[in-house]
Amino acid sequence: MAGHRFIARTVGAIALAGLAGCTDTAVPVEATAELATSQAELASVAQAAAGRKHFQEALPGTNGRSCATCHVLADNTALTPAHVEALWARNPADPLFHRIDADDPTAPVPTYEHLKKGLVRVVLPLPANMDVIDVQGNVVTAPDRKVSVWRAVPSIADTGFSGPFQADGRETDLVTQAQSAVTSHSLGGTVALPVLQRIAAFERSVFSSPRARFVSELLELGWPLSTIPDPDALLLLDASERRGRDVYNLACEACHGGRTRNRIVDRATHDIAFYALKPDGNIQHIIGPDGRPQRVYVPRPHSEFLNAGYAYMTYLGQRGVVPLYNTSVGFPQYRFRFYTDGTRQHHVTDLPPIPVTASGDPNDINPALDENGAPIVGPALAAQWYSTDPGRALITGDPAEFEAFDVPSLRGIARTAPYFHDNSHATLTDAVDTYSRFILPGIPTVVLPQHPPEFPGGPPESLTPAQKQDLLRFLQRL
Ligand code: HEC
Ligand code: HEC
Repeated sequence: MAGHRFIARTVGAIALAGLAGCTDTAVPVEATAELATSQAELASVAQAAAGRKHFQEALPGTNGRSCATCHVLADNTALTPAHVEALWARNPADPLFHRIDADDPTAPVPTYEHLKKGLVRVVLPLPANMDVIDVQGNVVTAPDRKVSVWRAVPSIADTGFSGPFQADGRETDLVTQAQSAVTSHSLGGTVALPVLQRIAAFERSVFSSPRARFVSELLELGWPLSTIPDPDALLLLDASERRGRDVYNLACEACHGGRTRNRIVDRATHDIAFYALKPDGNIQHIIGPDGRPQRVYVPRPHSEFLNAGYAYMTYLGQRGVVPLYNTSVGFPQYRFRFYTDGTRQHHVTDLPPIPVTASGDPNDINPALDENGAPIVGPALAAQWYSTDPGRALITGDPAEFEAFDVPSLRGIARTAPYFHDNSHATLTDAVDTYSRFILPGIPTVVLPQHPPEFPGGPPESLTPAQKQDLLRFLQRL
């Protein structure tokens, strides 16, 4: 009952905002508390308010960092490079600058160049069926079997529906996630359950827009996603924004679809993301009916994580092939061996595979062809010496999920630059350019016409400059 009233109110608020023609994209994320009308709603609003306090204030027995040290409330609960730079200038003794996130935690005088790019060190245990290997194939796993990667700090807005959490989806529950955050970032001990629950309640009350809140509340009431009315239909869009929505539907919706904007709705696009690999890490091919080699795919119906080249991009940045926002800082250089199980006796594959290039030049990214004319390549589809972040494979130990990442929600996306799991792109314009030039042309299920390069010497594009402009305008409203 209370729930229905709640929805009616939210729908009403959205409809009113829409009818009044007022844009809700400028609403700060925390401005979502409304008049509570029932006891249960009052209790949950009170819980969220208490949770906000825990979120903002360092918990006892920690290194002084609160959640808000990194999820900055004034910056849509993300960590912007500008915030880090300003804080460094003002107070280098702030708890944000803790040695665990120094470029080199063992340096006599720690430096924080990664943090200044908005990147935080994430330390993860290696799955039992994996080892770290070097270029010669020797096992070089650290004695504690841990690896570390550099990740951006995402906004906690819309966590009511955007799970699973983290770039690799390793957390599925906000309470457990909050304890992990206290342990890993704040070096704190076990936190009382009610405190974690209040933090989670606060997070669930933070939305990027009233439309996001609407979607979240219906999902919480058990509405199947497919039955939720499209709240974005209430947006008053001008002609350019409407064209941008059409571009979004053609180019982005397959993966960022549904009312949540973070669900893979096109199963064909999902299925072409998982390759069968040979023991050397290269993709298996078979000869198709047309006599030409075709890639072999492995079905992973329950994995909602995709590798569309996001970690490979950072690799190319590190190699000096493309300029990226995160190129000025160093990333780890990992190769991995996958085994059948935790005994690590039976080898499955090594990733990334040692490049076999057409020219024989180790710096060339163009692969050689095998006797059937198939390119000799691993999951990156081009030569790759190492991985800067194996993504989901580090959680599941599944080589098919190498460099696969969770699909983030695009709601409120204009307010959370920089972009991608490791801040490889400074602006939304840069991200859209990369999709048009490098990502969309490589997705065989998203077939778009080819357009001439927008940038001199660049590759052909999937989107025209006008389409990109329209798409950017629509994304500003999402
Ligand atoms: C030192 C910085 C730092 C602190 C402090 C911190 N976080 Fe995070 N948070 C991160 C990073 C980095 C990620 C992404 C990690 C990844 O993808 O592996 C993250 C991810 C998250 C996510 C997942 C969001 C999503 O959409 O996937 C949630 C929720 C979250 N943090 C909540 C918290 C809470 C609650 C606290 C306090 C108890 C906290 N964080 C403290 C850096 C921090
Ligand atoms: C094949 C699936 C797929 C398609 C199609 C796709 N995306 Fe993505 N998108 C992803 C995945 C997976 C990630 C996470 C990658 C990462 O974090 O490195 C992502 C991340 C993003 C991000 C970064 C989000 C953040 O919080 O940092 C933006 C922005 C984005 N996509 C925009 C778009 C736009 C715009 C389109 C259409 C032009 C599009 N995407 C099409 C799968 C896709």
